[in-house]
Amino acid sequence: MKKALFVILLLAVFAAAFPVFAAGEKVGVAMPTNSLQRWNQDGQNMKAQLEKAGYEVILEYANNDVAAQISQIENMLLNDVQVLVVASIDGGALGEVLRTANDVGVPVIAYDRLITGTEYVDYYTSFDNYRVGAFQGEYIVKALDLENAEGPFNIEYFGGSPDDNNAHLFYQGAIDALQPYIDAGKLVNPSGQIDFETVAILGWGSDDAQARMDNLINSYYSDGTKLDVVLSPNDSLAIGIVNSLISAGFKEDNWPVVTGQDCDIPNVINIVKGLQSMSIFKDTRTLAERTVTMVAQILAGEEVEVNNTEDYDNGVKVVPSFLCDPVFADKDNYKELLVDTGYYTEDQIKVE
Ligand code: BGC
Repeated sequence: MKKALFVILLLAVFAAAFPVFAAGEKVGVAMPTNSLQRWNQDGQNMKAQLEKAGYEVILEYANNDVAAQISQIENMLLNDVQVLVVASIDGGALGEVLRTANDVGVPVIAYDRLITGTEYVDYYTSFDNYRVGAFQGEYIVKALDLENAEGPFNIEYFGGSPDDNNAHLFYQGAIDALQPYIDAGKLVNPSGQIDFETVAILGWGSDDAQARMDNLINSYYSDGTKLDVVLSPNDSLAIGIVNSLISAGFKEDNWPVVTGQDCDIPNVINIVKGLQSMSIFKDTRTLAERTVTMVAQILAGEEVEVNNTEDYDNGVKVVPSFLCDPVFADKDNYKELLVDTGYYTEDQIKVE
């Protein structure tokens, strides 16, 4: 690792002394994993749009392995990228490699997930993550008619990966929307598991969510206690939760409200089937477009357009951000959002 850093520095000094050796406009895009549909789409959209704008692109997926992502970024620097776009796995683990990026004058855009604990991150593009959680909470309020109904309704909570800054914001947004009804005793939590650290699923894995849901059902619902709602922060967790409900024998008449995020294809199919109640649609085409604009503005030395300079404090600095708007999708509007806009074809989300 030390050797790689030394070579990067050497190359930078060389390129500065002999500008003719500096490469053309090349952008490095580091994505966390290609095992989740959303990141595949993000990667593909970024690559296609950057190439269309005339940039060369190095795109890498790191299989959710932090060390692999760090070495991919080191390699991108060795290959003379001029801007780095990074969707981190562990937002707090990139300080060292981004210091190197800074040493060789490569600006860094944190993509979708904030990079924390370092000053060497220049911009952040994402969706309004707090709003994502607020939509999920508000959806539950509406679905159970919590304003009017007496309840009490039984709820179980899930949180995303604690090393992902977004996960905390999703959870806070949802809990803030639900809090008045928790306080009023309309929402009851039989397991007593509500604090983020307890309900969080490290790595966002479906299997881990399924295992936790199995435990909750066995411990708190096997006596016939009704489960009314499961707050799930995203679709990968929702898949595990739904699998657990199916294997525990839940049926249409006692099926709980289950939330999600990303509108992944299996989840949209589950929405159509009535197994998941809603998801959040974050159009990855929009996020890619916004990020490509940012790359272009940086490389042209223009003022970089942002729309939030307050909310994304990474522990060292407030990172200037551009936040896109999420929307929620359910069985009533998914066609309009996903098919009519060409995001998916009718066939892709067909229920077999
Ligand atoms: C993203 C979500 C995604 C999750 C798991 C989050 O940072 O914002 O869209 O579901 O990571 O990959």
